[in-house]
Amino acid sequence: MKNTSVYICQQCGYQSPSFLGKCPECGEWNSLVETAVSTRNSKSEARNLKVEVDLVKLSEVTLQSVKRISTGFSEFDRVLGGGIVPGSIVLIAGDPGIGKSTLLLQTAMRIAGAVPRQVQRSSADKRETTRKNSQNNAVLYVTGEESAQQVKIRADRIAKIPSNLLILANNDVDVVVGAAEELEPKFVIVDSIQTLTRDDLAGGAGSVGQVRECAQVLQRFAKSSQIPVFLVGHVTKEGNVAGPKVLEHLVDAVMNLEGDGMHNFRLLRSIKNRFGSTFEVGVFEMGDSGMVEVTNPSGIFLAQRDATLAGSVVCSTIAGGRPILAEVQALCSSTVFPVPARRVSGLDFSRMQVVIAAISRAAKITTANLDIFVNVAGGLKINEPAADLAVALAIASSVQNKPVKKNICAFGEVGLLGELRPVGNPKNRMQEARRLGFSDFVTADRFKTLSEAIKYSLGG
Ligand code: TYD
Ligand code: MG
Repeated sequence: MKNTSVYICQQCGYQSPSFLGKCPECGEWNSLVETAVSTRNSKSEARNLKVEVDLVKLSEVTLQSVKRISTGFSEFDRVLGGGIVPGSIVLIAGDPGIGKSTLLLQTAMRIAGAVPRQVQRSSADKRETTRKNSQNNAVLYVTGEESAQQVKIRADRIAKIPSNLLILANNDVDVVVGAAEELEPKFVIVDSIQTLTRDDLAGGAGSVGQVRECAQVLQRFAKSSQIPVFLVGHVTKEGNVAGPKVLEHLVDAVMNLEGDGMHNFRLLRSIKNRFGSTFEVGVFEMGDSGMVEVTNPSGIFLAQRDATLAGSVVCSTIAGGRPILAEVQALCSSTVFPVPARRVSGLDFSRMQVVIAAISRAAKITTANLDIFVNVAGGLKINEPAADLAVALAIASSVQNKPVKKNICAFGEVGLLGELRPVGNPKNRMQEARRLGFSDFVTADRFKTLSEAIKYSLGG
């Protein structure tokens, strides 16, 4: 084994054998950092080894039904695709302070505290369950960011602490894997991957080289022991998982915990999942004793809505596989600036600009002298064009100072020429809207153009 070094871009993970001032991949200056790599698996060594390989016909591979482990949260299980898959490695990413540690500590406590189900086992199964601790649900929580005392204070806020939840406050990935191999827990949490390091590598904790190497070590551990490992990862200000993209293809699933500092709602979104559907969404609320799952998000997002005010429209949006009703609000007021202000939160800015242009041109509503602010209530983020129509109606309602008709729920894409286009999953969207009492649908199926839709919604 020998160590060589490569230069790795800390921004995008590009590798170069020599130093370069500018990364040819992402164009960042001075971002290449020398990183030692251990070349244990170098080709020359591999060639000298006699390796026995097992070739298997794909048609003859037998499938064993995997028993997933429940997180104790139905919302979390839903995003994972039905629970935690044994041997999987999952990255939970999100901004600092969003609640990653809280959610995972709660999960650890629920798994450790779960009463093992009494299942009738066959003798073959019994032979398989030789693990020391799998029967008593031990969970290992590795904390590199906070001390054991800090984790204890947090856990005390949440619930009674189960006795088989074990804490390891350490930053060395080899110590972590050693402890996990010794304990053989049911589940391992590493909070966070950016705090782990490996001795034989240059570069501080959180550098691309360290993050990638530590994640690889943990991935090998998860696969060989069949013990699932969850990693916490911070997000950089550009919105990438730190140690940029390098982690995303190493792990089986990536979940983003999102929300804004102003509201207590948190969305757990799966952006990659080898064991379930992507774009699944779970909704939580941060409370005084940890996260509480929200099983009726539409009801919560509409709870504060006053339907008699101009500028408010209900939109049925699809987040993951599930429809959620959201309130789109607009405020339009005459500007005091030479260039009017345009602000949006919870929606795509450029889509909003297209909608504003379509309103002015196709529906003949003057917006040139107006400051326009658009917002999705409750801190929800919508990133599908289906919200276009609701944005247009909210702006038109605010400009004309007329509330939209009661019971209206709008969804549809607005084209550049002011035409309406249908969007996917209309049935699910309507079903969710009806459940909450919205039965008057303003959609592309009913109206061909934006101006017809606005005319109807604002009552003539
Ligand atoms: P945390 O889980 O530490 O975030 P992350 O690990 O993503 O950085 O969450 C910290 C925030 O959550 C902090 O502002 C306090 C708040 N919080 C609650 O509101 N209720 C609680 O029960 C707990 C434990 C934390
Ligand atoms: Mg944390």
